[in-house]
Amino acid sequence: MAKAKTQFICQNCGTVHSRWAGKCDGCGEWNTIVEEDPMGGIGSGPGKVPKKGRPVTLTSLSGEIEEAPRIPTGMSELDRATGGGFVRGSAVLIGGDPGIGKSTLLMQAAAALSRKGNRVIYVSGEEAVAQVRLRAQRLDAAQTDVLLAAETNVEDILATISEGKRPDLVIIDSIQTLWSDTADSAPGTVTQVRTGVQAMIRFAKQTGATMVLVGHVTKDGQIAGPRVVEHMVDAVLYFEGDRGHHYRILRTVKNRFGPTDEIGVFEMSDKGLREVANPSELFLGERNEKAPGAAVFAGMEGTRPVLVEVQALVAPTSLGTPRRAVVGWDSARLSMILAVLEAHCGVRLGSHDVYLNIAGGYRISEPAADMAVASALVSSLAGLALPADCVYFGEVSLSGAVRPVAHTAQRLKEAEKLGFSAAVLPAASPDLPKSAGRLSEIDSLPDLVARIAGSKLRNTRGEDEG
Ligand code: TYD
Ligand code: MG
Repeated sequence: MAKAKTQFICQNCGTVHSRWAGKCDGCGEWNTIVEEDPMGGIGSGPGKVPKKGRPVTLTSLSGEIEEAPRIPTGMSELDRATGGGFVRGSAVLIGGDPGIGKSTLLMQAAAALSRKGNRVIYVSGEEAVAQVRLRAQRLDAAQTDVLLAAETNVEDILATISEGKRPDLVIIDSIQTLWSDTADSAPGTVTQVRTGVQAMIRFAKQTGATMVLVGHVTKDGQIAGPRVVEHMVDAVLYFEGDRGHHYRILRTVKNRFGPTDEIGVFEMSDKGLREVANPSELFLGERNEKAPGAAVFAGMEGTRPVLVEVQALVAPTSLGTPRRAVVGWDSARLSMILAVLEAHCGVRLGSHDVYLNIAGGYRISEPAADMAVASALVSSLAGLALPADCVYFGEVSLSGAVRPVAHTAQRLKEAEKLGFSAAVLPAASPDLPKSAGRLSEIDSLPDLVARIAGSKLRNTRGEDEG
């Protein structure tokens, strides 16, 4: 028999190399290349003779669909993130930092589905049965019919879940603990994880069960193991949040069966995760309305408006190169806003440190936050609080022009609901509601700066100085 050839696989990105090297060409990481046996994997044992293909029956697109394709959990925030419930026969990967609450979320989802009469199997590879039971008790899930196993071997798991009635939902916690007899590599390596995930996905596709896989996240925020796992599954959700804060966000980054811009918001309590139907109230909870440098941004997450506070601190620097630090926003975008403020508005920030923070550990990716960021920066530099009842949104272009953004009406409606009676928004915004409160339409960034500076004149003449 021919000697099995080994491959060298990067544990970070999955790139295959023919020789060992200190640095991976694919992702640039050091010391991530490990020797593995490429022949490992279910159905591809070493020295297997290539067999002739067998034709499969081709069918039409318009066939019968037996069951409702989705199983909603009844946890509205989770259903929102998955696009209306778990799709039967699909594989969902949930990533997140250790201790963020993945197991808690899935135990609650398992209990909810089990109460609705679904057959749910929870396979824990990280915790012993007693530990999972303890958590289930705390979550009021102990009295449900969720079936529990503590197992990490892929073949044993497959044999277990194939037995008896077909399960509706199988949870594997986590993929990094899976190991298969057919792969020769050490547990936790790319080959092992990939083999295990492949086998689980195949089970889901064959039986119509939904497979939920838990994956750990590395330091730089990606699901540990090969990126290929993300390509193999139907949906990828990230469970994120700040350890210092008690709320958690379930963010969809890939979904073959639904939208990818939805978020689900939860709050971690002593009885598990609580759904947060109105996240804006949470993010605005600890607001200090009199402090300069804070602007409320009326943002959108998918179909849902979210209000969040943007905080800026602009202070004279003691360093040669001023500091720019950003939490919760894109630092390149901040540099752009600073450049536009300097070039078009005469706001000199070259000798100032700039710190920008999105309140509560929330993360914004929308360019519509530009105007809120600019307002917060100018407000902090001028030492002047912005009106407490005002929201800001609008995209700023490099020329200093302010561009309209989508969903104006929804943003304003949410703001009104939460007691904001004024808004600073781009001029020529489409679909402006007639009944909206005080609207200041801004067409350029210099205009915005002038208005904030103008309010300073008013304030210093008036009574509440400082
Ligand atoms: P866990 O679900 O074990 O996280 P993961 O599976 O993502 O590693 O969550 C663990 C954290 O959640 C832990 O720090 C304790 C906290 N927690 C609560 O605050 N309340 C609860 O009811 C539960 C079950 C956990
Ligand atoms: Mg866990």
